[in-house]
Amino acid sequence: MSDTNAPDDAESHPTESVWMSTTEPTSYPPLDGDGEADVVVVGGGITGLTAATRLSEEGADVAVVESGRIVEGVTGRTTAKLTLQHGLIYDHLRSEFGAEKARRYADANQEAIETVKERVDRYDIDCDFDRTAAYTYTESTEKRAKISDEVDAATALDIPAAFVEDTPLPFDVEAAIRVEDQARFHPRKYLLALAETVEDAGNDIFEGTKATEIKSGDRNRVVTDRGTLTADAVVVATHFPILDHRLFFSRLYPHRSYVVTIRTDDAPTEGMYYRAEEPERTIRTKVAGEDDLLIVGGEGHKTGHGDSKERYRRLERYADEQFEVESMPYRWSTQDYGTPDRIPFVGRAGPGTDGVYVGTGFGGWGMTNGTAAGELLADLALGRSNPYEGVYDPTRVSKSSAKKAVKENTQVAKEFVEGWAEGLLGSGTVTPPAGESRIVRHDGKPYGLYRDEDGELHAVSAVCTHMDCIVKWNAAEKSWDCPCHGSRFEVDGDVIDGPAVEGLSNPGTQE
Ligand SMILES: Cc1cc2nc3c(=O)[nH]c(=O)nc-3n(C[C@H](O)[C@H](O)[C@H](O)COP(=O)(O)OP(=O)(O)OC[C@H]3O[C@@H](n4cnc5c(N)ncnc54)[C@H](O)[C@@H]3O)c2cc1C
Ligand code: FES
Repeated sequence: MSDTNAPDDAESHPTESVWMSTTEPTSYPPLDGDGEADVVVVGGGITGLTAATRLSEEGADVAVVESGRIVEGVTGRTTAKLTLQHGLIYDHLRSEFGAEKARRYADANQEAIETVKERVDRYDIDCDFDRTAAYTYTESTEKRAKISDEVDAATALDIPAAFVEDTPLPFDVEAAIRVEDQARFHPRKYLLALAETVEDAGNDIFEGTKATEIKSGDRNRVVTDRGTLTADAVVVATHFPILDHRLFFSRLYPHRSYVVTIRTDDAPTEGMYYRAEEPERTIRTKVAGEDDLLIVGGEGHKTGHGDSKERYRRLERYADEQFEVESMPYRWSTQDYGTPDRIPFVGRAGPGTDGVYVGTGFGGWGMTNGTAAGELLADLALGRSNPYEGVYDPTRVSKSSAKKAVKENTQVAKEFVEGWAEGLLGSGTVTPPAGESRIVRHDGKPYGLYRDEDGELHAVSAVCTHMDCIVKWNAAEKSWDCPCHGSRFEVDGDVIDGPAVEGLSNPGTQE
């Protein structure tokens, strides 16, 4: 145990990721008026930039449109493990889809690691890429058999997996599955270098340019707040798709989780770790190339359903119990969307959208899946086939889909009713003290109020613009989060995460 005062100190650490803090911000210009390209890629995370790079390598004329700055979304806040080992997944995939599809999912993810490595070599990118093993471990005797089943499934699928009882971690585990030849890297260093290659090839990257609509026709048109781009094909890589013809909102589940970094002399330098049981834990070694810097993550929950400050405290307490912590330099939180059967949705955007393609639902494993998706989306945009199209097919129906959809949508209905009951009957019109929030009613409508530390009162409509659920305050991130499908909004109502595209209406800020 250390003297970091971790549990009480949670609020004093800045909430910025180590990847953002160790790279310079970008400054690509916004779109200035109308234009055209062969392919427009909307979204500058790992999915969009991988697609743009591949398209650029193939000689296509590409324009990337990013609402904020590139690689500052989920990809700028990941833990950056490159692995095909996505927790205990292969036993599940084998029984859900059969051995062939399970093997292809593994192949797609291992190939994605090799794709990253090839580009690191080709463009000589200094991004701390190195190979290491991935472990999924259990500390519970009851889960030992599950690890054993996973090893059996993985080896039957030709994954180089082994059952082990020792790991380089400084605490005991009951059992683990170890997969060799996985990798870790610095995602921003890698992707910012790829963006440069895209621009150097004569293509455009527009930052501060928000796509608001995609209109299909003979050619597709991406309408943005800075002008309209016409293109033969459009890749939608906005994390949650801004175009939802396949009703993804009812099949994507937002999962928010937390990360702290610790500086410690007893950090293992080898391996990346994921705990098989609740509470979820993820450990990533050699962060930003530093031997003594470790990521400890976990405490995930459905967006809008957890006390974020408490989650940080628990994570910091856990890190402090397991390691000799000298300091905790960074902490941050972000969210990813999972699918009912745990395979992402990547492919055609849906009926009436010829030439428009989407990639989403990476379930916490978008470094490899996002890379595979970027390659697949680029192939589709070029009119070519891709070996993994069938694996990620967004039209698939799987055994677990219907059951999970019923459960999730029952929960959404409950949130809707309870949210409105609280919004209309709840806290009346009492305004909050500094640093606090309230849902209040005014003229029979619910509003979210937040008074900042300077005493300024910020008011927004509490009705989520996606499908009218009532938002909840997230005290650690200072945002309004929707408990139904995971949209998040700034204090003054601007959208942070979809599916909502429009911000919360904002009656103004008062002293
Ligand atoms: C805590 C945490 C840890 C994780 N760790 C790992 C890990 O170790 N390994 C792993 O494989 N995966 C991990 N993941 C998952 C992985 O980080 C994500 O799946 C991946 O980064 C998603 O990439 P993306 O390109 O789809 O989204 P993003 O990186 O979010 O990119 C989408 C971009 O689109 C932009 N955008 C949105 N709307 C618009 C619009 N209307 N117009 C223009 N631009 C728009 C956004 O600003 C953003 O830049 C983790 C996830 C979490 C939550
Ligand atoms: S995200 Fe769907 S109602 Fe808010």
